[in-house]
Amino acid sequence: MSEPVLRTENLTKRFGGLIAVDNLNLSIPSGRLHAIIGPNGAGKTTFFNLVSGLLAADSGRVFFKGRDITGLKPHEVSRLGIKRTMQIKSVFPQLTVAENLWVTRHATNQTLHPFRSAARDPETRERVELTLEQIGLHALAHRCAGTLSYGDIALLEMGMALISDPQLLLLDEPTCGMSPAETERAVEKIKQLTRKIDIVIIEHDMSVVFEIAEDITVMTQGEILASGSPDEISGDERVREAYLGRPEDEDYVEEVAHA
Ligand SMILES: Nc1ncnc2c1ncn2[C@@H]1O[C@H](COP(=O)(O)OP(=O)(O)OP(=O)(O)O)[C@@H](O)[C@H]1O
Ligand SMILES: [Mg+2]
Repeated sequence: MSEPVLRTENLTKRFGGLIAVDNLNLSIPSGRLHAIIGPNGAGKTTFFNLVSGLLAADSGRVFFKGRDITGLKPHEVSRLGIKRTMQIKSVFPQLTVAENLWVTRHATNQTLHPFRSAARDPETRERVELTLEQIGLHALAHRCAGTLSYGDIALLEMGMALISDPQLLLLDEPTCGMSPAETERAVEKIKQLTRKIDIVIIEHDMSVVFEIAEDITVMTQGEILASGSPDEISGDERVREAYLGRPEDEDYVEEVAHA
């Protein structure tokens, strides 16, 4: 079996007395879209923060394609090919869609001269074009990012992660706050991307999870409650219990289980 794209060994993060990620042993194979689900406060975002170097683990290790990346700084993790989007979206609102992509590409491509205009660099231009295709925002390339709809901002943020050729993309609730039509469009884009890069997605919307995930890990209280195929997860009694209190999710899991 090939090396997992991401693997953790006894990964632990505490905030005072709270154990946000508790001795996590997770192995995510390459080439399969992996979703992490779980109730609010389960430790999902903290897990991404530990992988991307935004937070330091108290103990345990993180391996990216077999390489120990524990303790690396965010820019070092990013340089190895792991990119992420944030739960709270951040783009440059005064810049256009294309400019947001230019500056991101420019900032991460060390072969470019820092004072040379990104717009004049043919390689950057080509990359921006390609990324606009990937995220489907070609028609809005010259619109100010601050005037975009929420869904388009989320797609742009995904583009900013994609423009530096990641090998692994971590998406934290990419469809949160999107309209149903925007969600559908984002799901299509994510499906297309999965063919080229490894993606791990944290998602609350169960219809999205069951549409795109090939493997699902369910987290509660910093631990893995269950992991398996969408069928296995939807039929898991403990998972349904973990979602009590989120009736909309419970109904959906129920529906899938009896479909
Ligand atoms: N920087 C921090 N300082 C203190 N506590 C934190 C910090 N970040 C997260 N926590 C706590 O750790 C726990 C896990 O939080 P985390 O954000 O990882 O959950 P989550 O699964 O992403 O939840 P949600 O679905 O609401 O985004 C929560 O109890 C949260 O309050
Ligand atoms: Mg979160």
